[in-house]
Amino acid sequence: MTRQTGAIAIIFLFLLVVAAVVPFRRSHAGSNIDKQAFGKTRQGEPADLYVLTNKAGFEVAITNYGGTLVSIKAPDRKGQFADVILGYDTVTGYEAGKSYFGGTIGRYANRIAHGQFVLNGRTYTLARNDGENHLHGGLIGFNKRVWTAKDVSSSAGQALELSYLSKDGEEGYPGNLSVTAVFTVLADRNALKIDYLANTDKETVLNLTNHAYFNLGGQGVGDILGQQLLLHASKFTPVDSTLIPTGEVRNVHNTPFDFLHPTAIGARIDRDDEQLKFGKGYDHNWVLDHGSQQALASAAEVYDPESGRTLTVSTTEPGIQFYSGNFLDGTEHGKDGKAYTHRSALCLETQHFPDSPNHASFPTTVLKPGREYRSTTVYRFSTK
Ligand code: GLA
Repeated sequence: MTRQTGAIAIIFLFLLVVAAVVPFRRSHAGSNIDKQAFGKTRQGEPADLYVLTNKAGFEVAITNYGGTLVSIKAPDRKGQFADVILGYDTVTGYEAGKSYFGGTIGRYANRIAHGQFVLNGRTYTLARNDGENHLHGGLIGFNKRVWTAKDVSSSAGQALELSYLSKDGEEGYPGNLSVTAVFTVLADRNALKIDYLANTDKETVLNLTNHAYFNLGGQGVGDILGQQLLLHASKFTPVDSTLIPTGEVRNVHNTPFDFLHPTAIGARIDRDDEQLKFGKGYDHNWVLDHGSQQALASAAEVYDPESGRTLTVSTTEPGIQFYSGNFLDGTEHGKDGKAYTHRSALCLETQHFPDSPNHASFPTTVLKPGREYRSTTVYRFSTK
């Protein structure tokens, strides 16, 4: 080898190494999350939109207003990307919105009967913002608060940490509660992982979830009745007419609540069934078969036969609220001016059971000082 060809070979090798390392560093680095302005709240606080991606082009946009998932772009079986969750174009929509699109729900996701619970002999009174009951944390829940954002990306993927301090007495709940939700777009698969962490300085109750409305056919495109649902749950918690659990844990066998095998959501939704009437469709908590042992396990799968998109939800939570978008009625207009019509999306809210503070037999939602609340849910997108 002459000196010249030796030098060329070395340069060539160097370029090869650079080509291999640069894209890796890109998915790794802490500063690559795209940040855009998302408008100002009524109080004049600026909200931001953070766009997290992986190398496959899977993309999740999150705003620090309400810890809200604004869009999730996932490919269909032909590789065509679509936004598969409902939402609004700017923060103004979320401020006015009453449907909790994509929001982080707290301090207590779902309902607490008559807005009341007893803890250590003391009665706490909360807002009754859903008829007689308390829903999704009250008048100004976590989904209507401005969170503090931090880029915590690692080799696992681009990651955004949102944190919020819920003061003692806020919305009637006891204790200063410090909450973080870390949203990670996994580098090696089309998945969004949300890790929740919280601690308190006074005993309190806590139930966190995300309220994304999914339509695997694309947001604002038709209804979800033809999409197939699988729930790894042999039991559910029946409700009264105000959607508060009666305390019974009922087997799904021979009921329209049996989704142990993939079943079209619309197949039984209009049956003459008291529970379906109370919910105006599905709006119930299923008891996940994996129990409450805090290990991440598959809870639900949705498959859209038209696009081939499949969503798999795994969680450490003991329950899941499957809500079939029964209150959507077309009056609400979201992203790109799309009208969100009846049952045009579904929610799979991983959670502890509704009204647990008033049901000693349900897994506890009490958080004590010195203890850490931890919860993880993963939404994975693939195609069939
Ligand atoms: C949850 C509830 C529903 C409804 C939606 C928001 O899923 O269970 O009853 O309130 O939130 O509209």
